Amino acid sequence: MEYITEICSLSDTSANEEIYERAAEIIKSGSLVAFPTETVYGLGGDATYPDAARKIYAAKGRPGDNPLIIHVAAPEDADKYAVTTELYYRLARRFMPGPLTVIMPKRDIIPYEVTGGLDTVAVRCPGSQYAREFIKHCGVPIAAPSANLSGSPSPTTAKHVYDDMCGRIPMILDGGPCEIGLESTVISLDGDGCKLLRPGAVTEDMLLEVCSHVEVARAVIDPSAAGDKPASPGMKYKHYSPKAEFTLVEGDTEAICRYLRSMASHGSVGVICADRLSETYAATGATTLTYGSDETGADLSRSLFSLLRRADELKLSSVVARAVPPQGEYMALYNRMIRAAGCRVVRLGASDNY
Ligand code: TXA
Ligand code: MG
Repeated sequence: MEYITEICSLSDTSANEEIYERAAEIIKSGSLVAFPTETVYGLGGDATYPDAARKIYAAKGRPGDNPLIIHVAAPEDADKYAVTTELYYRLARRFMPGPLTVIMPKRDIIPYEVTGGLDTVAVRCPGSQYAREFIKHCGVPIAAPSANLSGSPSPTTAKHVYDDMCGRIPMILDGGPCEIGLESTVISLDGDGCKLLRPGAVTEDMLLEVCSHVEVARAVIDPSAAGDKPASPGMKYKHYSPKAEFTLVEGDTEAICRYLRSMASHGSVGVICADRLSETYAATGATTLTYGSDETGADLSRSLFSLLRRADELKLSSVVARAVPPQGEYMALYNRMIRAAGCRVVRLGASDNY
């Protein structure tokens, strides 16, 4: 079905009530609405209605065996859809509403179409007030993956959603740019501890404040551990990818400059960098894609997906970014970057000859 896709801004709060009501009508009729969260935009449908899940998969062009997260307006709503534990409530008190998704055994009301055939369901109560208001108006849990076409970078603005979903869904709620910019932390519970399946803004150290132990799934920092051996690195595990060839580099600023100059003869090159390095890198002839000044990773996290989309708008043939450490507060960034790069990492030694 072809839709005329309407973008509804939530910035004028006096008009929002009417917008939420219309959005809820669309959800109750079994159709889809894209909505903002603090992580990325979600493509939402009624999580108790099997056909909505099918429509989500179809709109994204995503295989139907990939389970969806269900979004609730309040942490305690999880009890209606999942078998919660005491640890869930300890996590909820510390991190919810917020960027944490918890996998628990599902209740019958959640159809297998939503969980990709699994007996478990992923539950998240988003930190975004817009998201919670929308869910509250719907009166049902909202199943939602990121609102991008399968394989492309997750959307962090309503415009990104529109670029991917125009004609595929009737409505996009526009809450402005997402604060965090990377998808939520996903964990499963294991007694008094948990397993970290996807890193996000709730870090391993933060989880350790509440859980007795945190096991980090190997695939988090080593995508090749995710399944069968890939035919070639970067084919099977390419995710969040721009069309431009994205490469991570390890080395100092000088080595990266040499590398950028060597790339210039192979077409238009972009480099993702902090504001302070923009001039230095621009002098090599590369197009700079800057994310701000913060060195903690928050600015880069917020901007990464948006810059990868920008690289394609600029029709760059390749994009380079300096690799971040695979641990601590950088783990989520590393995880997304290594996937977007299809595991392409170039180590620039001091003696390298370009
Ligand atoms: O921040 C987010 O989590 C965003 C916003 C929209 O909430 N949503 C999101 O959804 O990133 P999606 O579908 O792109 O990612 C869901 C992740 C996938 O890695 C999926 O495999 C995992 O959660 N997942 C969902 N249900 C699961 C389950 N029952 N068991 C294991 N993994 C599950
Ligand atoms: Mg996604």
